[in-house]
Amino acid sequence: MGKSEKPMPEHVAIIMDGNGRWAQARGKPRLFGHHAGALRVREIVEACPEMGVKYLTIFAFSTENWKRTQSEVSGLMKLFKRYLMSETKQLVEANIRVRFIGDRMKLDDTLVALMDELELLTSHNDLVHLTVALNYGGRDEVARATKRMCREVAEGTLDPESVDAETLARRLDTYVLPDPDLVIRTSGEARISNFLLWQSAYSEYEFVDTLWPDFTRDEFARILSGYNQRERRFGAVPG
Ligand code: IPE
Ligand code: IPE
Ligand code: MG
Repeated sequence: MGKSEKPMPEHVAIIMDGNGRWAQARGKPRLFGHHAGALRVREIVEACPEMGVKYLTIFAFSTENWKRTQSEVSGLMKLFKRYLMSETKQLVEANIRVRFIGDRMKLDDTLVALMDELELLTSHNDLVHLTVALNYGGRDEVARATKRMCREVAEGTLDPESVDAETLARRLDTYVLPDPDLVIRTSGEARISNFLLWQSAYSEYEFVDTLWPDFTRDEFARILSGYNQRERRFGAVPG
């Protein structure tokens, strides 16, 4: 395939970073930045169909984010609840299918109920598949999948000799999703912070300095057209 014919990425994953610094720069508390960050999400989701992005996965809270102050963590949890309540109707009507990945065991029941409800209400939607990573960590996900495999072996329903990469991939939270083609991280940090470790083995990465609350549809479009110019080889020699 010639460079100009390269398709847009089908699955884009975003590490939405920089809310705290955005607030700090304005002399405001970190939660002010998280609120501003939440408001950016809709614009980016809405831009996906016209840009040919079928799957969008966003990192909202990591398994390591519990290390933050209790007031930031509880503020974030309250924000997630409020956000889900206020966005549900719009997501259903906009034909967006919503899924959550991550460990729900540590999240409070009210939040989990809202997540379940949103997944159910949007389960017949298919314009864009939006996946929200909430209490998500790549290592934690692989560990949970491995635990499931161990249980199945102990129960006699899985033959250890049959285990390969696909066996594990099918037990990850992302089992229904294609691997991300492109991972974007905002705020200038060039690290992946435990996001989609397994799934991004061959993803392209784009690190941008913009803080998440300043990230716009135009910047998103520019990054996607840059992706278009790249050559993905998957370990092979270019043809
Ligand atoms: C990302 O913004 C949002 C979450 C991790 C919940 P940060 O809160 O990490 O913002 P910075 O990196 O401190 O600026
Ligand atoms: C990654 O950002 C997690 C999310 C964006 C939800 P962090 O701000 O938590 O990552 P580090 O601490 O800079 O690696
Ligand atoms: Mg950060």
